[in-house]
Amino acid sequence: MPEDSLTVTDNRTGKSYELPIDHGAVRAMDLRQIKTDENDFGLMLYDPAFMNTASCRSAITFIDGDRGILEYRGYPIEELAAHCTFLEVAYLVLFGALPNPSELDHWVYEISHRTMLHETTKKFMEGFRYDAHPMSMLISTVAALSTIYPNARQIGDPEVRLRHIKRLIGKMPSIAAMSYRHSVGFPYVYPDNDLSYTENFMNMLWKMVEPKYAANPVLAHALDVLFILHADHEQNCGTHTMRSVGSAHADPYLAVASAASALSGPLHGGANEEVIRMLEEIGVVENVPAHIEKVKNGKGKLMGFGHRVYKNYDPRAALIKKIADEVFKVTGYNRKLEVALELERIALSEEYFIKRKLYPNVDFYSGLIYQAIGFKPEMFTVLFAIPRTVGWLAQWQELVVDAEQKIARPRQIYTGARGLRVAPITERVAGAGIR
Ligand code: SDX
Repeated sequence: MPEDSLTVTDNRTGKSYELPIDHGAVRAMDLRQIKTDENDFGLMLYDPAFMNTASCRSAITFIDGDRGILEYRGYPIEELAAHCTFLEVAYLVLFGALPNPSELDHWVYEISHRTMLHETTKKFMEGFRYDAHPMSMLISTVAALSTIYPNARQIGDPEVRLRHIKRLIGKMPSIAAMSYRHSVGFPYVYPDNDLSYTENFMNMLWKMVEPKYAANPVLAHALDVLFILHADHEQNCGTHTMRSVGSAHADPYLAVASAASALSGPLHGGANEEVIRMLEEIGVVENVPAHIEKVKNGKGKLMGFGHRVYKNYDPRAALIKKIADEVFKVTGYNRKLEVALELERIALSEEYFIKRKLYPNVDFYSGLIYQAIGFKPEMFTVLFAIPRTVGWLAQWQELVVDAEQKIARPRQIYTGARGLRVAPITERVAGAGIR
């Protein structure tokens, strides 16, 4: 009998079955042979929210949630944050190896020469109210790029895929900056190819009438590292959405817009905005114990805490905390850090959080830095979406070329009625429907 297998006995029939184990998993389809009779559909797995279901094989990102380990293509996130630029890491995540000097120069050239947007984008952006949420503007505008590049639907062609991958990585900061400039009524700023990816983003956000924008190098570096930390995170909600929409062979602009829509949720990438609002509501360190009690009594969540995979400290949160020190030396201290540190100190000592293995995640400290650099809270999730576009596209590319993948179409356990007949409307009982 092969060691890597599971023997299951169906007590309804007394039959036993051998299920092969591969990479710590059994194939759900191997359960379908387990039937009570020929008419039986066969066993399924019931796993709401995919708590324990692997949807794909991937070689991009490795996470060990218990040990707080995060690696892109085998490189620890700490190594990459210390020694690489964001575009260098983007190349690694997408192509599986760090670039040599000429490869990096070519890659930077390719991306920086795809930062312009079609001029119709301005008209599209003008359609938004002045107070439209930048994340909604970003999502809508990315989807609208699908109308400008109809050949992006040819997802089977590797050349076409690569062209639109570069376009999306190049244009996300431009769209994000346009969303911000629209919200404050400033004219749009065109890209400056002399600048790095993050410096150019800052240029498009904050250049006023000076002839050439000069980014503060400390802040530009902090943003670059934050982008590295947010680039990918295996099968999170947004990436799962990217893969699901991509599995239907939708074009990458629509798939990225879908993934960004998932990211915008307050339980996901929208948490960084909610953390700042929570810290503002708490106000001062003295109010922290009362807030902790509220959370323990089930009145709201400690935003920026907890994670489906990390049952230890999110390694990104630890690195972000270090970046905060660098940034505050330039911007001045963000007093909300005192409240955040006190929240963390108390939470890590309270049984409620310890029992549930709730630690600060990537969103807990990032907002403090973004705010200190000059971003308003509504921009925080946009700052998450820009670098995560690299991860979404890498995972999408992996899906498209994976021979095992098909259109995503989960099953269900049906709990509704069957075989009803339509009664005349005059005989129908009021309030019979689901409220
Ligand atoms: C991201 O998946 C990824 O990789 C995501 C991400 C990425 O890079 O893509 O890492 C980015 O989304 C980070 C998470 C940002 N979200 C938040 O900070 C929002 C607050 N956190 C929670 O909503 C929650 O922790 C989640 C959504 C992050 C994880 O939720 P799970 O895994 O579904 O866990 P759960 O909601 O079932 O919680 C288990 C228990 C529950 O209590 P009990 O029912 O057992 O009594 O822990 C409690 C929850 O109520 N709990 C919290 C809590 N998070 C979980 N209680 C208070 N505050 C919290 N933050």
